[in-house]
Amino acid sequence: MRVKTFLFGVIIGVALVAAGVYYYFASGMAPVATSAGAMPFEEMLASKALHARMGKEMPKTMPPWDEANLVQGAQLYKDHCAVCHGLPGQPESAISKGMFPRPPQLFVGKGVTDDPPAESYWKVEGGIRLTGMPAFSGALNDAQIWQVSLLVANANKLPDAAKTILESPPTPPAAKVPVKGK
Ligand code: HEC
Repeated sequence: MRVKTFLFGVIIGVALVAAGVYYYFASGMAPVATSAGAMPFEEMLASKALHARMGKEMPKTMPPWDEANLVQGAQLYKDHCAVCHGLPGQPESAISKGMFPRPPQLFVGKGVTDDPPAESYWKVEGGIRLTGMPAFSGALNDAQIWQVSLLVANANKLPDAAKTILESPPTPPAAKVPVKGK
């Protein structure tokens, strides 16, 4: 009898929690606008899920990085990433300011220079769901994803040739680095 009462209690408890969560979403209490704040536990759960998954899938080896790769990476960054992640010495774009979560400005502070390039590779390749960070696996090839990941990992110690590209005015479309499939 005791066991049955206990189990009944557990079932009621679980049902109440499920109903509460459902009510939270169904009644319009959950934030959905990018300008609204975070949901309870949102950041904690998202970061746990991201790190658990990344730990399983991050590449274990990476190409050697040299000036040529960083120069290519700088051009790719300018074409595909700068609108959200910013350029050295430039103000954050209106697009970036309106997003939730806000794209980290990769040339402000330490950016991702303390993350292994393989971690950035994983994020650029597959994107980060529900954040606005796009997957570039359909647009850039493997070597290009590495180049741009090496660039952001070395944002604080770039050779002058890469800095010049980041600091020069936007490239006209005809001169752009070809992307996969084009
Ligand atoms: C449309 C906007 C957008 C574009 C374009 C974009 N990103 Fe992102 N990116 C984001 C957002 C938003 C996040 C934050 C995700 C989060 O909070 O987990 C992010 C996260 C990242 C991170 C992880 C940062 C950290 O602090 O851990 C890296 C690295 C990154 N992006 C690299 C790139 C690169 C390289 C490109 C270009 C090939 C790019 N992104 C293009 C929006 C963008």
